Amino acid sequence: MKVLHIDCSVRNEASLSRQLSGFFVTELRNKEPGLALDYLDLGAAAPDHVSALFIEGNYTSPERRTPEMIAELAASDKLIGRLHDADVYVIGMPMYNFTVPSNFKVFIDNVVRTGMTFRIQGMVSEGLLVNKKVYVINTRGVDFSHEAIKPMDQLVPYLKTIFAFIGLDDAQFIDVFPVKFSSEEVREKAIAAARQTISACVRELCALVGA
Ligand SMILES: Cc1cc2nc3c(=O)[nH]c(=O)nc-3n(C[C@H](O)[C@H](O)[C@H](O)COP(=O)(O)O)c2cc1C
Repeated sequence: MKVLHIDCSVRNEASLSRQLSGFFVTELRNKEPGLALDYLDLGAAAPDHVSALFIEGNYTSPERRTPEMIAELAASDKLIGRLHDADVYVIGMPMYNFTVPSNFKVFIDNVVRTGMTFRIQGMVSEGLLVNKKVYVINTRGVDFSHEAIKPMDQLVPYLKTIFAFIGLDDAQFIDVFPVKFSSEEVREKAIAAARQTISACVRELCALVGA
């Protein structure tokens, strides 16, 4: 099993999404020491925004691309290679302004590419990242169990749509809230529940791959 571990928080030690995604990977490693692991820190260094040349290159068939187009697409090619290489993605994802951090959106713009992560046949699209398990550990400051706040969630619906488009239709969301605008007791309860859910996910995953 190969795991791609992705973090998006711009914070380091203080980041809860990093702590919990790290906990997931550590638990998994304890159960399967031979685990192959790749780590992508989007909070530390996001990919470049896509450019006009990137888009032109992307829609030019590979054999007709100019050296400039090839160079512009190189970093995206590498990121897509890492996505294809891994069997499991573990993503630490804070909510920023009701959606994903902009570094993750830039990552998505870099990796959603025709012929590489999806293809269109007639009117139908087909995702090309198949047989992957995806775990999104999503930390939020606010209590989204309140009916008035629930519709403001633009993170899970967005990720479900874009992940399914590229073939990742089995994403599991571990939502951790409220971790900021709450008492210390409520925050600790949410974190403890998340750790339990993560441990259960790890057990399930190991059973699935026969570890
Ligand atoms: C720029 C910014 C925007 C945020 N926007 C929201 C938000 O829209 N809804 C929410 O519930 N929490 C929001 N928060 C709180 C974070 O989601 C929460 O504190 C999360 O744990 C931060 O992740 P981290 O601990 O991994 O850095 C925001 C925090 C930051 C820094």
